[in-house]
Amino acid sequence: MSETDLLTAARRARENAVAPFSKFQVGAALRTADGHVVTGCNVENATYGLTVCAERVALFKALSEGHRRFTHIAVVADTAEPTPPCGACRQLLWEFGGDLEVVLGNLQRETARHRLADLFPHPFDAHFLT
Ligand code: THU
Repeated sequence: MSETDLLTAARRARENAVAPFSKFQVGAALRTADGHVVTGCNVENATYGLTVCAERVALFKALSEGHRRFTHIAVVADTAEPTPPCGACRQLLWEFGGDLEVVLGNLQRETARHRLADLFPHPFDAHFLT
């Protein structure tokens, strides 16, 4: 699956976003090292604070299905400028996905591409605990 297809999968996942409070719908599609694609959308609730971003939904779905190695994540929002992952998502994507290729897009096109190491320099991770 190409990066274009990964963006298409993220756009489709975005349509399931549960975002009644912010109205800001986000979709994500994570590609595993063996070529599977696992998608997610943001899920908000009445506490606001328990909201989970599209990226983390995709990541936790993938982990719970047994996937452990990832190469790319596509993130789509309806914005002219790229919508990058929030700090919490960067931490978890780093811990479970390493230096992923992060492909950002809107409803029409790819808007930016980064390595996660560039978005999240000097991370804290499990190697400090050993
Ligand atoms: N959100 C994501 O799902 N991913 C991002 O990269 C940025 C923010 C969601 C969380 C919340 O439901 C809404 O967008 C507004 O912050």
